[in-house]
Amino acid sequence: MRAWDRWNRVRLAFLRARHRGLEVDPHASSNFAVARYNLAPDASLRIAEGAVTERIPGRLHFILYPGARVEVAERAWLRTEVGDVHIVAFEGARMVLGPECLVNGCHLSAKSEVSLARGAMVGPGSRVFDSDQHDLDDARRERSQPVSIGEYVWIASDCLVLRGSCIGAHSIVGSGSIVTGEVEPHTLVYGRPARPRGQVGDRSKAH
Ligand SMILES: CC(C)(COP(=O)(O)OP(=O)(O)OC[C@H]1O[C@@H](n2cnc3c(N)ncnc32)[C@H](O)[C@@H]1OP(=O)(O)O)[C@@H](O)C(=O)NCCC(=O)NCCS
Repeated sequence: MRAWDRWNRVRLAFLRARHRGLEVDPHASSNFAVARYNLAPDASLRIAEGAVTERIPGRLHFILYPGARVEVAERAWLRTEVGDVHIVAFEGARMVLGPECLVNGCHLSAKSEVSLARGAMVGPGSRVFDSDQHDLDDARRERSQPVSIGEYVWIASDCLVLRGSCIGAHSIVGSGSIVTGEVEPHTLVYGRPARPRGQVGDRSKAH
């Protein structure tokens, strides 16, 4: 264990020397050494103290274009045991993975801004896109709009969260759903498109 940790720390030092915008707090998991980093020279990726991931090489992908900024906050868990995690931030985009959030085998993509607040969870196979990523036609250009995922929200497996979605705190998105707009706080939604189906209490201590 200690030998692995030492090797990881050496590799992290090498990665930080190679990518000037990469900051990994010394108290973050050394397993961030086995992630894949595709960072443009002026992109910035900050990983805070207590952030964790597994030691499964190549399962965690950071793809940051020029001027992109990604923050992984304290005690965030980027879980790779059940699938790859992709964190993609296009030119000038911003992404914040809040304190104690769980990003579990899923794909998060920002062209403007994607934010997960404290304790938010995104389940396996789910995808979050804040942009259509293509023009609709020659007259109607690609649209991007920030996505905001509130405190203690649980997005279950195989969901799609599309541009402009704003999911209020303590809400739940049932598996297989497509979210396209506003979800009020403390609301259970599911379906394609997701519709309100019930109320949810406080989730700040729920796992
Ligand atoms: C959100 C969730 C907990 C809702 O559960 P629930 O409120 O207890 O719902 P119920 O099981 O009582 O089902 C109520 C009805 O809604 C339907 N339903 C429940 N979840 C649904 C979903 N995600 N999509 C479509 N329909 C759904 C049920 O078929 C049932 O329909 P019926 O009344 O016609 O029989 C559940 O849907 C879910 O998504 N679980 C997460 C599973 C998962 O992805 N785990 C991986 C870890 S992230």
